[in-house]
Amino acid sequence: MDEVLVIGIGAGDPEHITLAAVSALARADVIFSLDRATGDLTAARDALIRRHAPATPVVVVDEPRRDRGAADYAGAVEAWRAARARAWQAAIDAHAGVGAFLVWGDPAVYDSTIAVLAQLAVPFRVIPGISSVAALCGAHRIALTRVAGEVLITTGRRLAATGWPVGMTDVVVMLDGQGAYHRVRTEPLAIFWGAYLGTDREQLISGPLAAVAAQIDAARERARTEYGWIMDTYLLRRS
Ligand SMILES: C[S@@+](CC[C@H](N)C(=O)[O-])C[C@H]1O[C@@H](n2cnc3c(N)ncnc32)[C@H](O)[C@@H]1O
Repeated sequence: MDEVLVIGIGAGDPEHITLAAVSALARADVIFSLDRATGDLTAARDALIRRHAPATPVVVVDEPRRDRGAADYAGAVEAWRAARARAWQAAIDAHAGVGAFLVWGDPAVYDSTIAVLAQLAVPFRVIPGISSVAALCGAHRIALTRVAGEVLITTGRRLAATGWPVGMTDVVVMLDGQGAYHRVRTEPLAIFWGAYLGTDREQLISGPLAAVAAQIDAARERARTEYGWIMDTYLLRRS
Protein backbone atom coordinates (compact mmCIF):
# COMPACT_ATOMS: atom_id res chain seq x y z
CA MET A 1 0.00 0.00 0.00
CA ASP A 2 1.11 3.58 -0.59
CA GLU A 3 -0.15 4.72 2.76
CA VAL A 4 -2.43 3.79 5.63
CA LEU A 5 -4.61 6.43 7.29
CA VAL A 6 -5.64 6.15 10.92
CA ILE A 7 -8.79 8.22 11.06
CA GLY A 8 -10.37 9.42 14.29
CA ILE A 9 -14.14 9.47 13.76
CA GLY A 10 -15.33 11.07 17.00
CA ALA A 11 -16.86 9.37 20.01
CA GLY A 12 -20.51 9.14 19.05
CA ASP A 13 -21.86 12.30 17.46
CA PRO A 14 -21.80 11.88 13.66
CA GLU A 15 -21.29 15.66 13.42
CA HIS A 16 -18.03 15.35 15.36
CA ILE A 17 -16.16 13.89 12.40
CA THR A 18 -13.66 16.50 11.21
CA LEU A 19 -13.32 17.85 7.66
CA ALA A 20 -9.84 16.26 7.59
CA ALA A 21 -11.38 12.89 8.46
CA VAL A 22 -14.01 13.30 5.73
CA SER A 23 -11.26 14.08 3.17
CA ALA A 24 -9.21 11.11 4.38
CA LEU A 25 -12.21 8.79 4.05
CA ALA A 26 -12.76 10.03 0.51
CA ARG A 27 -9.11 9.22 -0.32
CA ALA A 28 -9.24 5.64 0.98
CA ASP A 29 -9.32 2.77 -1.53
CA VAL A 30 -10.12 0.27 1.21
CA ILE A 31 -11.30 0.51 4.81
CA PHE A 32 -9.96 -2.10 7.23
CA SER A 33 -12.38 -3.15 9.95
CA LEU A 34 -11.36 -4.94 13.15
CA ASP A 35 -14.93 -5.51 14.28
CA ARG A 36 -14.09 -5.64 17.97
CA ALA A 37 -16.71 -3.03 18.82
CA THR A 38 -20.19 -3.73 20.14
CA GLY A 39 -23.06 -3.86 17.63
CA ASP A 40 -24.13 -0.27 18.35
CA LEU A 41 -20.63 1.12 17.74
CA THR A 42 -20.27 -0.87 14.55
CA ALA A 43 -23.60 0.54 13.37
CA ALA A 44 -22.48 4.12 14.14
CA ARG A 45 -19.21 3.56 12.29
CA ASP A 46 -21.00 1.96 9.33
CA ALA A 47 -23.36 4.95 9.12
CA LEU A 48 -20.33 7.26 8.81
CA ILE A 49 -18.89 5.08 6.05
CA ARG A 50 -22.22 5.10 4.20
CA ARG A 51 -22.35 8.88 4.47
CA HIS A 52 -18.73 9.75 3.61
CA ALA A 53 -17.33 6.79 1.63
CA PRO A 54 -20.34 4.83 0.35
CA ALA A 55 -18.49 3.09 -2.47
CA THR A 56 -15.33 2.15 -0.55
CA PRO A 57 -14.94 -1.57 0.19
CA VAL A 58 -14.68 -2.60 3.86
CA VAL A 59 -12.38 -5.54 4.57
CA VAL A 60 -12.54 -7.32 7.93
CA VAL A 61 -9.09 -8.11 9.34
CA ASP A 62 -9.22 -11.55 10.89
CA GLU A 63 -7.49 -10.91 14.21
CA PRO A 64 -6.26 -13.71 16.47
CA ARG A 65 -7.87 -14.01 19.91
CA ARG A 66 -5.75 -13.62 23.01
CA ASP A 67 -5.16 -16.69 25.19
CA ARG A 68 -6.53 -15.29 28.47
CA GLY A 69 -5.96 -18.52 30.39
CA ALA A 70 -2.21 -18.78 29.67
CA ALA A 71 0.09 -19.37 32.66
CA ASP A 72 2.77 -17.11 31.16
CA TYR A 73 0.74 -13.86 30.98
CA ALA A 74 3.49 -11.61 29.57
CA GLY A 75 4.54 -14.26 27.04
CA ALA A 76 0.94 -14.77 25.91
CA VAL A 77 0.41 -11.03 25.43
CA GLU A 78 3.67 -10.76 23.48
CA ALA A 79 2.71 -13.71 21.24
CA TRP A 80 -0.76 -12.26 20.70
CA ARG A 81 0.64 -8.84 19.76
CA ALA A 82 2.98 -10.42 17.23
CA ALA A 83 0.20 -12.56 15.72
CA ARG A 84 -2.03 -9.51 15.53
CA ALA A 85 0.66 -7.49 13.73
CA ARG A 86 1.11 -10.35 11.23
CA ALA A 87 -2.66 -10.42 10.52
CA TRP A 88 -2.70 -6.66 9.90
CA GLN A 89 0.38 -6.84 7.68
CA ALA A 90 -1.20 -9.65 5.62
CA ALA A 91 -4.40 -7.61 5.14
CA ILE A 92 -2.40 -4.52 4.12
CA ASP A 93 -0.17 -6.51 1.74
CA ALA A 94 -3.25 -7.91 0.00
CA HIS A 95 -4.34 -4.41 -1.12
CA ALA A 96 -2.95 -1.47 -3.07
CA GLY A 97 -3.40 2.29 -2.83
CA VAL A 98 -4.56 3.99 0.35
CA GLY A 99 -5.96 2.02 3.28
CA ALA A 100 -7.85 3.36 6.28
CA PHE A 101 -8.48 2.24 9.85
CA LEU A 102 -11.35 4.07 11.52
CA VAL A 103 -10.82 4.70 15.20
CA TRP A 104 -13.51 5.62 17.73
CA GLY A 105 -12.84 9.06 19.25
CA ASP A 106 -9.21 10.09 18.89
CA PRO A 107 -6.58 7.48 17.91
CA ALA A 108 -4.22 8.99 20.53
CA VAL A 109 -6.47 8.06 23.45
CA TYR A 110 -6.56 4.46 24.73
CA ASP A 111 -6.39 2.84 21.33
CA SER A 112 -3.77 0.42 20.03
CA THR A 113 -4.06 1.09 16.27
CA ILE A 114 -1.04 3.42 16.18
CA ALA A 115 1.07 1.03 18.28
CA VAL A 116 0.33 -1.91 15.97
CA LEU A 117 0.95 0.05 12.76
CA ALA A 118 4.24 1.37 14.17
CA GLN A 119 5.53 -2.22 14.14
CA LEU A 120 4.66 -2.76 10.48
CA ALA A 121 6.46 -1.96 7.27
CA VAL A 122 3.93 0.57 6.01
CA PRO A 123 3.87 4.37 6.03
CA PHE A 124 0.92 5.68 8.01
CA ARG A 125 -0.60 8.99 8.93
CA VAL A 126 -2.91 9.87 11.83
CA ILE A 127 -5.97 12.09 11.47
CA PRO A 128 -6.94 13.17 15.00
CA GLY A 129 -10.55 12.89 16.16
CA ILE A 130 -12.74 14.38 18.85
CA SER A 131 -12.22 12.15 21.87
CA SER A 132 -14.79 11.24 24.48
CA VAL A 133 -12.81 13.49 26.85
CA ALA A 134 -13.48 16.51 24.61
CA ALA A 135 -17.10 15.40 24.18
CA LEU A 136 -17.49 15.11 27.97
CA CYS A 137 -16.15 18.62 28.62
CA GLY A 138 -18.25 20.11 25.84
CA ALA A 139 -21.42 18.42 27.07
CA HIS A 140 -20.86 19.66 30.63
CA ARG A 141 -19.71 23.09 29.40
CA ILE A 142 -16.49 22.89 31.41
CA ALA A 143 -12.82 23.43 30.64
CA LEU A 144 -10.62 20.36 30.97
CA THR A 145 -7.62 22.26 32.27
CA ARG A 146 -7.70 24.87 35.00
CA VAL A 147 -5.33 27.85 35.13
CA ALA A 148 -1.78 26.43 35.26
CA GLY A 149 -3.32 23.14 36.41
CA GLU A 150 -2.69 19.58 35.32
CA VAL A 151 -4.91 16.66 34.41
CA LEU A 152 -4.30 12.93 34.64
CA ILE A 153 -6.08 10.53 32.29
CA THR A 154 -6.36 7.06 33.75
CA THR A 155 -8.45 3.90 33.72
CA GLY A 156 -11.08 2.70 36.16
CA ARG A 157 -8.88 -0.30 36.91
CA ARG A 158 -5.95 1.88 37.97
CA LEU A 159 -8.08 4.25 40.05
CA ALA A 160 -9.61 1.26 41.85
CA ALA A 161 -6.16 -0.22 42.48
CA THR A 162 -4.29 2.90 43.60
CA GLY A 163 -6.91 5.30 44.96
CA TRP A 164 -6.61 9.05 44.43
CA PRO A 165 -3.31 9.84 42.65
CA VAL A 166 -1.06 11.75 45.04
CA GLY A 167 -0.82 15.47 44.29
CA MET A 168 -3.40 15.48 41.46
CA THR A 169 -6.42 17.77 41.42
CA ASP A 170 -8.09 16.70 38.15
CA VAL A 171 -8.43 13.11 36.96
CA VAL A 172 -10.26 11.82 33.88
CA VAL A 173 -11.34 8.19 34.17
CA MET A 174 -12.06 5.97 31.18
CA LEU A 175 -12.59 2.24 30.66
CA ASP A 176 -14.32 1.88 34.02
CA GLY A 177 -16.37 -1.30 34.11
CA GLN A 178 -16.66 -1.37 37.88
CA GLY A 179 -17.62 2.08 39.21
CA ALA A 180 -14.11 2.93 40.42
CA TYR A 181 -15.30 6.31 41.72
CA HIS A 182 -16.42 4.46 44.84
CA ARG A 183 -12.75 3.97 45.74
CA VAL A 184 -12.41 7.76 46.17
CA ARG A 185 -15.92 8.53 47.36
CA THR A 186 -14.82 10.01 50.67
CA GLU A 187 -12.47 12.51 49.02
CA PRO A 188 -13.77 16.09 48.57
CA LEU A 189 -14.40 15.73 44.82
CA ALA A 190 -16.84 16.89 42.21
CA ILE A 191 -17.68 14.50 39.38
CA PHE A 192 -18.69 15.30 35.80
CA TRP A 193 -19.99 12.03 34.37
CA GLY A 194 -21.18 11.27 30.84
CA ALA A 195 -22.42 8.14 29.13
CA TYR A 196 -23.01 7.51 25.40
CA LEU A 197 -21.68 11.03 24.79
CA GLY A 198 -22.72 12.60 21.52
CA THR A 199 -25.40 9.99 20.83
CA ASP A 200 -29.14 10.24 21.27
CA ARG A 201 -28.75 8.19 24.47
CA GLU A 202 -26.39 10.71 26.06
CA GLN A 203 -26.67 10.98 29.84
CA LEU A 204 -24.98 13.55 32.06
CA ILE A 205 -24.72 13.77 35.84
CA SER A 206 -22.58 16.19 37.83
CA GLY A 207 -22.21 17.31 41.43
CA PRO A 208 -20.35 16.44 44.63
CA LEU A 209 -19.19 12.82 44.24
CA ALA A 210 -20.54 11.64 47.59
CA ALA A 211 -23.95 13.13 46.77
CA VAL A 212 -24.38 11.80 43.22
CA ALA A 213 -22.49 8.46 43.27
CA ALA A 214 -25.68 6.48 43.94
CA GLN A 215 -27.46 8.31 41.11
CA ILE A 216 -24.63 7.37 38.74
CA ASP A 217 -24.77 3.74 39.96
CA ALA A 218 -28.49 3.65 39.17
CA ALA A 219 -28.01 5.25 35.73
CA ARG A 220 -25.29 2.71 34.87
CA GLU A 221 -27.45 -0.17 36.04
CA ARG A 222 -30.48 1.03 34.04
CA ALA A 223 -28.35 1.53 30.92
CA ARG A 224 -26.83 -1.96 31.18
CA THR A 225 -30.30 -3.46 31.52
CA GLU A 226 -31.73 -1.45 28.65
CA TYR A 227 -28.86 -1.53 26.15
CA GLY A 228 -26.68 -4.42 27.34
CA TRP A 229 -23.53 -2.27 27.49
CA ILE A 230 -22.37 1.11 28.68
CA MET A 231 -19.59 3.45 27.68
CA ASP A 232 -18.92 6.25 30.13
CA THR A 233 -16.20 8.74 30.98
CA TYR A 234 -15.88 11.10 33.89
CA LEU A 235 -13.78 13.89 35.32
CA LEU A 236 -13.10 13.96 39.05
CA ARG A 237 -12.13 17.38 40.30
CA ARG A 238 -10.84 18.45 43.70
CA SER A 239 -12.02 21.96 44.56
C1 LIG B 1 -10.96 1.91 24.16
S1 LIG B 1 -11.31 3.50 24.83
C2 LIG B 1 -11.39 4.43 23.35
C3 LIG B 1 -11.26 5.91 23.60
C4 LIG B 1 -11.39 6.73 22.32
N1 LIG B 1 -10.23 6.53 21.47
C5 LIG B 1 -11.58 8.21 22.60
O1 LIG B 1 -10.82 9.03 22.06
O2 LIG B 1 -12.53 8.55 23.30
C6 LIG B 1 -13.01 3.27 25.28
C7 LIG B 1 -13.42 4.22 26.41
O3 LIG B 1 -13.62 5.51 25.87
C8 LIG B 1 -14.67 6.15 26.57
N2 LIG B 1 -15.71 6.51 25.57
C9 LIG B 1 -15.61 6.37 24.24
N3 LIG B 1 -16.71 6.84 23.63
C10 LIG B 1 -17.53 7.31 24.60
C11 LIG B 1 -18.80 7.94 24.61
N4 LIG B 1 -19.48 8.18 23.47
N5 LIG B 1 -19.34 8.29 25.80
C12 LIG B 1 -18.68 8.07 26.96
N6 LIG B 1 -17.48 7.49 27.01
C13 LIG B 1 -16.89 7.11 25.85
C14 LIG B 1 -15.15 5.20 27.64
O4 LIG B 1 -14.46 5.50 28.83
C15 LIG B 1 -14.72 3.87 27.07
O5 LIG B 1 -14.55 2.92 28.11
